[in-house]
Amino acid sequence: MNQAVPVVTIDGPGGSGKGTISRLLAKKLGWHWLDSGAIYRVLALAALNENISLDDADALVSLANNLDVVFQENERGEPQVLLKAVDVTTDLRTETCGDAASQVAAIPAVRKALLARQQNFRQPPGLVADGRDMGTVVFPDAPVKIFLTACLEERVKRRHKQLKEQGFEFSIDALFHEMAARDKRDAERAVAPLQAAEDAEVLDCSYLSIDEVVDKVMTLIEKKVGGTRSKAHTEF
Ligand code: C5P
Repeated sequence: MNQAVPVVTIDGPGGSGKGTISRLLAKKLGWHWLDSGAIYRVLALAALNENISLDDADALVSLANNLDVVFQENERGEPQVLLKAVDVTTDLRTETCGDAASQVAAIPAVRKALLARQQNFRQPPGLVADGRDMGTVVFPDAPVKIFLTACLEERVKRRHKQLKEQGFEFSIDALFHEMAARDKRDAERAVAPLQAAEDAEVLDCSYLSIDEVVDKVMTLIEKKVGGTRSKAHTEF
């Protein structure tokens, strides 16, 4: 791991806005971006495709060690994920895949098998890493650690809007139960549970705009690492 390269970790539950915010920060800084959730999602999708049981630790570890995945940007500059050279970007965003990801992510050996793959994203000039355990486990020495929260109602609303924009129909009620169950599994698992690092800045963004959160985080980065600012405006 290249410890001279600065890392900003953005952890938090699903729907807290960390994906949008971490990507915006990476763009503003001109740094690399790690969407660690997508790594768990792609493993889960590969397991579902190959009929591997989501609790078969040995088979999942072997799959993780041989995962043929590419993270890149499409021609519009949006994130794109290829599994065995097939574009699976949309498939990864379904709640079925998110739920399966949360099941495989609860297995300690799977987390260990995916650790180096995540740490390899730490490349100059810097990295913004989005996930659940970026500040606690994957990059414990990161100079800036953020834990984003938002109340469940607000997160459900955001995720519902996001899914609708992507063409997925999901009832608010079903989504509420799905996200509450996933939060519980992520927070209660034995290894790398969802929790703020002791040295993380906790930001409740239930009623903050994306710009307000990005601004707060940029101020922290400037204080601890140094950096540059440019203006952008984005809606949740
Ligand atoms: O963030 P996203 O919803 O894409 O993550 C999908 C699932 O992957 C989460 O519910 C969580 O169980 C798992 N995950 C994890 N550790 C990370 C990122 C995601 O356990 N660093």
